[in-house]
Amino acid sequence: MANEGRYGVVLGVANRRSIAWAIARRLAAEGVTLGFFVLDERTERKVAPLVEGLGGAHRIVRCDVTSDEQLDAAFAALDAAWDAPLSLCVHSVAFARREDLEGAFLDTSRDGFRIALEVSAYSLVAVAQRAALRMRDGGAIVTLSYLGAERVVPGYNVMGVAKAALEASCRYLAHDLGPRGITVNAISAGPIQTLSARGIRGFGRMLEHVAQRAPLGRNVTVEEVAATAAFLLGPEARAITGEVIHVDAGYHALGM
Ligand SMILES: NC(=O)c1ccc[n+]([C@@H]2O[C@H](COP(=O)([O-])OP(=O)(O)OC[C@H]3O[C@@H](n4cnc5c(N)ncnc54)[C@H](O)[C@@H]3O)[C@@H](O)[C@H]2O)c1
Repeated sequence: MANEGRYGVVLGVANRRSIAWAIARRLAAEGVTLGFFVLDERTERKVAPLVEGLGGAHRIVRCDVTSDEQLDAAFAALDAAWDAPLSLCVHSVAFARREDLEGAFLDTSRDGFRIALEVSAYSLVAVAQRAALRMRDGGAIVTLSYLGAERVVPGYNVMGVAKAALEASCRYLAHDLGPRGITVNAISAGPIQTLSARGIRGFGRMLEHVAQRAPLGRNVTVEEVAATAAFLLGPEARAITGEVIHVDAGYHALGM
């Protein structure tokens, strides 16, 4: 297996529907030992039985990505547990206040903008700083984006702006970390029914629209996103960095 014997960090598992969970399952099946950074105690209670079900020596650590102290402590907890360099990191975290996903983008508040950008975009930078220090033999970082970064998707609002910042951050990080043999890429996934997706107005209609219009005539599955993530995180993708790969049944290619 391409990823066997490696160590990785996964941020963003909230429950069994999370995209990060599908990626984690895939990586664990390929022999990667994982550290799961979860938001809070409530999330940990939900995620613990899932991680237990994977078997292996995976660990769960609580970490709110808006706190530098919690990020430092979470990585330090893995340092204490593992005597091996980190190979890969999955960043699958986003948040915007519900009121900023309801009205018009024009009405976005200063605070709503700050929160969405901090959790959904700056967190990649904060995580990359710490992960890169531990990727002593090179490594790979993957984050999750969406088409709302490039085009207007009504209702996606400030999250679209945050994803644009995330994708640009991915390119700048790829530039800075390239000399250290670390790749940084994003997957722009088509809509998938998850906890976060529930916060987006008209999400059900988005799924229907994509199924009707996408070149492949359907929506994507989390397993398909996970397969691309495993590829980007594995040795076969070592020449790919600063890239945004669309895993969206081709929907992004349409002009009309
Ligand atoms: N579901 C979709 O249609 C879709 C499409 C494209 C991209 N994405 C992106 O995929 C990623 C994962 O989302 P998902 O759909 O799996 O939903 P999800 O709700 O399962 O995952 C979002 C995760 O972000 C975590 N999170 C939020 N604030 C945090 C904080 N302050 N600190 C630490 N963790 C925090 C949550 O705990 C949760 O685990 C997100 O970046 C999302 O924007 C989702």
